[in-house]
Amino acid sequence: MKSILFICTGNTCRSSMAEAMFSAMLKDAGLDMEVASAGTAVFFRGGASEQAVEVMKERCIDLSGHRSRPVGIHDLEKADLVLTMTRGHKRAVLEMAPALSGKVFTLKEYVRDGSDISDPFGGTVEDYRACADEIEEALKKLVKKIKAGNLKRETEDQRMKVAIGSDHGGFELKENIKEFLQGEGIEYTDFGAFDLSPVDYPDFAEKVASAVASGEYDRGILCCGTGIGISIVANKVPGIRAALCGDCFSAKMSRQHNDANILCMGGRVVGRGLGLEIVKTWLKTEFEGGRHQRRIDKIADIERKYSE
Ligand code: RB5
Repeated sequence: MKSILFICTGNTCRSSMAEAMFSAMLKDAGLDMEVASAGTAVFFRGGASEQAVEVMKERCIDLSGHRSRPVGIHDLEKADLVLTMTRGHKRAVLEMAPALSGKVFTLKEYVRDGSDISDPFGGTVEDYRACADEIEEALKKLVKKIKAGNLKRETEDQRMKVAIGSDHGGFELKENIKEFLQGEGIEYTDFGAFDLSPVDYPDFAEKVASAVASGEYDRGILCCGTGIGISIVANKVPGIRAALCGDCFSAKMSRQHNDANILCMGGRVVGRGLGLEIVKTWLKTEFEGGRHQRRIDKIADIERKYSE
């Protein structure tokens, strides 16, 4: 059985609602999983806030029995996945348990939907309702991700699932990359194009980008003639950080510093040999986090600002 731990500050509003709503969703989806919640700053143990209880009641969920509790190191070690409501909570958790960084994410970051859930504490029932809606949206994506089996991959064997696509200009390079992925035993899905007939790159770039943004795929690889068109399109999809690379150094840095989730290449720019070296480098390089996470969070903030 897998277990998920939701974290906020006082464990009276956001994380308690997340725990309750997620448990109900799992039940509806027929999924079996342990769900818990806790707070980074719980000074006395009490019930969930009145507004949270009321808003959950509207959803036919009884939160009246909830008791807030402080997060302990044992809770963090025991959970397969720790999902925090904000980046601040994530930082607090990682200060307690730096070695667990591989399984601690903000809820929205984990479902590739931004970063923070705003705090309704002290607000009206209306504020709590808006917060519950925000959490629910992210939880729906989480259920989808669990159903797709991605939770297992990220918390157990780290095997990745790659979405791949091209237009006619990148078709041959894409076919070479598929052959390489197959040889490496890396799971992938080809979103087309499926032959050399002229097609429009936005159609294929969007398919791959939305497959990655939905959380169903961990990474994407896109090829067109220059790599430019597909990278422009992919970067229009919220949550996507597509990097156009023509050399291994850029590929490496796009992972270490930018946490690029889509690699773009030009089939008329790089040949098979260099193309495959770039793919190898890009797939094996990890994101460094730290100060770069702050910058990635700012990208998500900008995305949100212009989508409102
Ligand atoms: C298609 O000829 C070409 O325009 C396309 O593959 C790509 O290079 C666009 O950026």
